[in-house]
Amino acid sequence: MCIIFMPMKNYQDKNLISFKQSALTYAENSEVYAPLVRAMENYKNSPCTGFHIPGHNRGEGVLDDFAKLIGIDALNLDTTDEFDNLGTLFPSTGAIDEAQRLASECFGSKRTFFLTGGSTIANLALAFGVTSPNQKIIIGRNCHRSVLSGMIISGANPNWLMPKKLNDWAIYGAISPCDLRNELENNPDTSLVWVTNPTYEGVVSDIEAISQVCHEFNVPLIVDEAHGSLWNFSDVLPKSALKCGADAVVHSLHKTGGSMTQSSMLHISKNSRFDVHKIEHALKLLHTTSPSLLLLTSLDASRAFLSSKMGKCAIENAIDNALYFRERALKIDGVRVLNSVSNVAFDVTKIFLKVDGLSGKRLESILELDFSIEVESASDEGILVLSNIGNKKEEFDVLLNALETISKRNYPDLAYLEGIKFMPLTAPNVVMTPREAYFSKKERIKKEDAIGRVCAEVIALCPPGISVLLPGELILEEHMPYLSDYSEIEVLVK
Ligand SMILES: Cc1ncc(COP(=O)(O)O)c(C=O)c1O
Repeated sequence: MCIIFMPMKNYQDKNLISFKQSALTYAENSEVYAPLVRAMENYKNSPCTGFHIPGHNRGEGVLDDFAKLIGIDALNLDTTDEFDNLGTLFPSTGAIDEAQRLASECFGSKRTFFLTGGSTIANLALAFGVTSPNQKIIIGRNCHRSVLSGMIISGANPNWLMPKKLNDWAIYGAISPCDLRNELENNPDTSLVWVTNPTYEGVVSDIEAISQVCHEFNVPLIVDEAHGSLWNFSDVLPKSALKCGADAVVHSLHKTGGSMTQSSMLHISKNSRFDVHKIEHALKLLHTTSPSLLLLTSLDASRAFLSSKMGKCAIENAIDNALYFRERALKIDGVRVLNSVSNVAFDVTKIFLKVDGLSGKRLESILELDFSIEVESASDEGILVLSNIGNKKEEFDVLLNALETISKRNYPDLAYLEGIKFMPLTAPNVVMTPREAYFSKKERIKKEDAIGRVCAEVIALCPPGISVLLPGELILEEHMPYLSDYSEIEVLVK
């Protein structure tokens, strides 16, 4: 058995399951009404003779072992929009439209789009829809690489805003509203601000203050809240940017919200300065034309679940478990947890910790190999543990016991891991826009010969997908330790 502290686990709390069984079903209780779930149930129960895609025709035309592996229901429900009265995504019609409207109401947006290409597609569509060539845009440097890909598509000119650094933990911290104000004063031609909140490790920026600064300068604000999709549903968690004056907000519901992998939402806020139609148009151009109904339905189910009593209970459990774990972990010799840093705001459900004498990578592999525990990620310094809506308290006890054993056993760190470095946390040396560099003549050269050359590729280790080097940036000696996975690098031809 393997214990997993990552997003997207099954709902397992026994009390909640009995609550689920005895009290509520989505169809009976308007509080958890999920129109797309209901439409899919009708679809499942009304087989018809079909001559349309997907060609496997409800699981008839697939490898037997595959059908057994994933279950015939999954194949039966694997369909796309346009068919069987389920509605369409673009334009939004039928049950899909109803589900999106309920999500919009629930999150308090003007418009919410369901997406099956993850938050990546949301960021790409925002870049494509609301930015244009050479427009100056202030972007937090800890953005996901999809924001950068968006800059390559649109040709906009990113002006990188460096978040605070938490050097002891080798991670980025919050974006300072004061730094943003300075940047806006120095760059009055800025047309957009784009920040990521929370960070992957759960550090939270003051989005209310950031939004206020943006409003003072009359510049719209996008918040990539990919890792904050639970915030709308709990007063204990930080406030969602949708309630803080942001113009557009991105949510990876699939990361922590309980929807299926690749499903996300893009919200345009009620007072947004963006033209919704432009964003919708960009989505139409970029999004698949065959969205998986399973993924769309899982978004509807996730919204309904999170806003239900059961969902609220599951979120409370996740928060309580996280607080319990944090308190006990801090008592273990040599274990340090990021929340001990003063003046830093957190999402408590994201727990970044380290054990003295072990790199994060080494700790991750010990947990995996010796204790069958899988955490969300590891870096030079520490590991990231997520307290999810699908985790049980007993699972945290297993992790605590493992950490206690590790702290006593004196595991040696491994030399080969010492060279690994994840994030340089240095300000980039920008020579040209990402788009200019991306479409320039390139060559691949040995990493050692690349110092002093202009990078032509996106180098962003995933997770968390934050960039080490981007097209158009000067490669320096200081980048070398972070390129251990690379023997060659693509650079611009001189
Ligand atoms: C901050 C942030 N934004 C966007 C994304 C992309 O999300 P997805 O994997 O849903 O495409 C990620 C992925 O890790 C992320 O961390």
